[in-house]
Amino acid sequence: MSDLILNDATYCETQLADKLTVTDSRTSISYEIPIVNNAVKATDFRGISAIGPAASPLDRYAAGLKIIDPGFQNTAVAHSSITYIDGVKGTIQYRGYMLDDLLEKHDFEDVSFLLVWGHLPSREEKLKFRANLSAKADPPQSVIDTIKSFPRNTPYHLMFVAGLSAWAATDPTMIPIYMGKELYLGKMHAVDEGVIRTIAASISVIALIYCHYQEKQICPSDPDASLAENILLMMGLVDETSKRPDPKMVRILNSLWIVYADHEMTNSTAASLHVGSGLADPFSCVSAAACALSGPLHGGAIDLAYKTFERIGSKDNVPQAIADVKAHKFRLSGYGHRIYKTVDPRVKHLKNALDELSDNVQANAHLSVALEIDRIASQDPYFISRNLNTNADLYGCFVFSAMGFKPEIITALMLAGRVNGILAHWREQMGK
Ligand code: ACO
Repeated sequence: MSDLILNDATYCETQLADKLTVTDSRTSISYEIPIVNNAVKATDFRGISAIGPAASPLDRYAAGLKIIDPGFQNTAVAHSSITYIDGVKGTIQYRGYMLDDLLEKHDFEDVSFLLVWGHLPSREEKLKFRANLSAKADPPQSVIDTIKSFPRNTPYHLMFVAGLSAWAATDPTMIPIYMGKELYLGKMHAVDEGVIRTIAASISVIALIYCHYQEKQICPSDPDASLAENILLMMGLVDETSKRPDPKMVRILNSLWIVYADHEMTNSTAASLHVGSGLADPFSCVSAAACALSGPLHGGAIDLAYKTFERIGSKDNVPQAIADVKAHKFRLSGYGHRIYKTVDPRVKHLKNALDELSDNVQANAHLSVALEIDRIASQDPYFISRNLNTNADLYGCFVFSAMGFKPEIITALMLAGRVNGILAHWREQMGK
């Protein structure tokens, strides 16, 4: 699945009278297809058929020309005004704001609100957002029991989906088929309520999964704390004396989540919108995204990358591993990206965070293997000629690792920062 999306930023470059003239050599008939926003509608090709105009409309419709695009490599599935990525210039905008500016001047709650509701929050809106999230953050006992029922080596996304399902089951009135009616399309009050509940539940379930891996109890959240501070609080990652999370960790987590908050139509966001197009509830949409994220070519690449570093073992073995990649014996997970054919603009921010944590980086054997791979690959013609760079997810993974997180929870922590972006797309979809 590609990250291709039609964004409002392309609209202004479009001339409405543009059209594509197509001649079907099978019938010698020419057709005019409107071009709007530099795109043609796949359904406009349906009227093109080899069986000619004499056939019945139904037969012509059935025999209409199809468009095949495995992986959505050049197919947009939605008009969106949420995120705009310029893969050539290497820039990202959320709702028209440059990512770099947002990182400098705002925290994750601001960005989260911006993505979902389209403007930066006033102080009152921000406090209300925080209070609403906090009011929904306490995991019901059935959710705690569900997570605890899993073996501790269970991949996080299986527990995440089960945790969200158990949570939704405590109040099925938010599930359309339970209520026997459609609940969300155009009903923005219900949509907004769904967004808040899903963000709060997702963050708490991820905290619960972390605690399960660590064999400890989840701690209470603080209604006055930010989302980033709260997940660390719930995980029990606090200073012995102050009983609060380390402000440096909170700051870095905030930046990581802003960097990951949205990335247009990624595989997981598209999966979520696919489920949303059937008018399913937001818990189900986010669950679908989590499942998609687990794939080895998507977020699952992080886990595979770690296992690769483990297998390579030491810096001395890196040249042989690179030779094996070049001989197509295996793909380097965490390398390559569908959109970026230049440097991923997120990487510089992640490198800054890594610099802040440099002592911890030196102590991590996997990271030294990863950095050696990066050093060699970045100078090797095989990688240079194919524009293959470390992708931002892998760099983010190094940062989480340097913060002390184990590999099995890292993709879940990335998902925690992406849930609001996924829901921003769901809200946009429901607003139509
Ligand atoms: N390691 C080695 N070679 C690679 C890699 C890689 N990671 N990625 C692409 N290539 C090579 C291919 O073998 C191919 O070479 P060839 O022309 O000699 O056959 C060439 O580069 C083009 O490969 P494509 O698959 O066509 O590249 P595409 O841009 O479509 O793929 C993708 C992007 C799927 C991310 C790919 O780079 C990949 O498989 N990477 C590894 C998995 C990964 O890290 N995924 C996470 C992406 S970020 C995210 O989703 C969270």
